[in-house]
Amino acid sequence: MPRTRIHNFSISLDGFATGEPQSLEAPFGHAGQRLHQWMFATRYWDPSGSAGVDDAFAQQFAPGIGAEIMGSNKFGPPDWQDDESWTGWWGEDPPFHTPVFVLTHRPRPALTMGGGTTFHFIEASPAEALAAAQEAADGLDVRIGGGPTVVRDFLSAGLVDHMHLVQVPILLGRGVRLWDGLEGIEESFEVESVTSPSGVVHLVFTRRTD
Ligand SMILES: NC(=O)c1ccc[n+]([C@@H]2O[C@H](COP(=O)([O-])OP(=O)(O)OC[C@H]3O[C@@H](n4cnc5c(N)ncnc54)[C@H](OP(=O)(O)O)[C@@H]3O)[C@@H](O)[C@H]2O)c1
Repeated sequence: MPRTRIHNFSISLDGFATGEPQSLEAPFGHAGQRLHQWMFATRYWDPSGSAGVDDAFAQQFAPGIGAEIMGSNKFGPPDWQDDESWTGWWGEDPPFHTPVFVLTHRPRPALTMGGGTTFHFIEASPAEALAAAQEAADGLDVRIGGGPTVVRDFLSAGLVDHMHLVQVPILLGRGVRLWDGLEGIEESFEVESVTSPSGVVHLVFTRRTD
């Protein structure tokens, strides 16, 4: 059975997955790049990077994935819909290489990029978006790419099978929190954790089948 997966989703000790305010100049607000320094230091990101625990987890991002679902605030800064030329943060060849379904209340026609990425802009419930992404994924898994609002909505709807979180030892104090409204969510999952020498903790949530 195809699964719904989350990878490399980084949160601060106090549970924030982005800072504030989000803008064109600062996509993660006051968090800057601090949530993802662990990943930039890996071979996955940089050929001269480390090949240890962090790299082993980071490398799981793409294999077996046939489509991604992301939120509007991951795709662009506030009100990117007003800019017809906005094609996302990632340039001509985005790192997805699959269909990507962007959840937005202001949809626009699909956008075909290089390298196999096509952005589809849809207004849909999590279950409807997942059905569309599963059809596009053609038997492969669907990744929920974030941000935190969308991850939270898919967790609330019970639609996530596998979630890899990276707890980064920083305190952001403000931003968008992942965990709000998800009290007791761990009871639906087997949870394993691996501490990395880099200081981050990898948390793997696998949906219980019993
Ligand atoms: N820490 C990490 O690993 C990580 C990973 C990915 C992204 N991020 C960061 O997270 C931030 C974005 O997260 P976020 O929580 O602010 O927002 P988000 O989850 O990216 O997007 C939420 C927005 O998507 C639209 N949306 C959500 N559900 C919808 C639905 N069912 N139908 C139609 N539209 C829907 C709405 O926007 P509209 O009403 O405007 O259309 C909503 O405000 C960015 O800073 C990004 O860089 C962090």
